[in-house]
Amino acid sequence: MFSQRTIFNKLMKTKMPTSLIKTPARAFSGGFYNHRSAEDNVEETPFEFTEENYKEIKRILNKFPENYKQSGIIHLCFLAQKQNNNFLTLSAMNKVAKILEVPPISVYEVTSFYTMFNREPVGKYHLQVCATTPCMLRGAYDIMDTIKEKTGIKHLMETSKDGLFTLQEVECLGACANAPMMQVNNEWFYEDLTPENTALLLERMRQGEGFEPGPQIPERKNAEGPQGRTTLTNVEHVFHERDFKAAKEEWEAAKAEQAAKQ
Ligand code: FES
Repeated sequence: MFSQRTIFNKLMKTKMPTSLIKTPARAFSGGFYNHRSAEDNVEETPFEFTEENYKEIKRILNKFPENYKQSGIIHLCFLAQKQNNNFLTLSAMNKVAKILEVPPISVYEVTSFYTMFNREPVGKYHLQVCATTPCMLRGAYDIMDTIKEKTGIKHLMETSKDGLFTLQEVECLGACANAPMMQVNNEWFYEDLTPENTALLLERMRQGEGFEPGPQIPERKNAEGPQGRTTLTNVEHVFHERDFKAAKEEWEAAKAEQAAKQ
């Protein structure tokens, strides 16, 4: 009878023939979040944080007590993923575990739970299109069709032949008021998408040009309607100003009075 840990360790060491491993494009929306050994993703795959990222790691870990380093798992995995072209390898996770002095399984548990960790290589631009109800009703599937048409991608989680784009369908990313939207490389939100502005955005990415993230309707400010505020317009804004110095003096006087009575 093997313990769970022994079985896990055996599985992690199993080297499958890479012909079996190269995963074809899948028909479902997400990628694989558990580990699949592949040529570029085994324990021996080199990974080392850059000096700059070691400084960032130090800054992050300063936020936590020494015995709660584990709290840095998500932060460090994000750093590792970003450094490695948005691909979080097994060796990168092991590096994170080593730095945080936790068993590797503690890192694997986190990265196999959160879908924002890419356990397979993705293109230079990882396009995550939201297809939850508000975005779906506002044309998310037209956006995905445009992306497929302009990049040659046929299935979700496929990377375009030029290695530039990977398309993924995701659930609500919290920008429903400006639907439809997509997130790029876990960082930038592009909202108010239409097939036209999506095509333009892809072209700009292809040319390596910037494209202002956020609402794509010029009249829109943040999540307000394009026609501006239409509700609660009669609410008077009251700015509270407190004199903290006076409040402190008042508190100290009350405290002194209390002490004098005892
Ligand atoms: S439904 Fe798409 S961001 Fe919320």
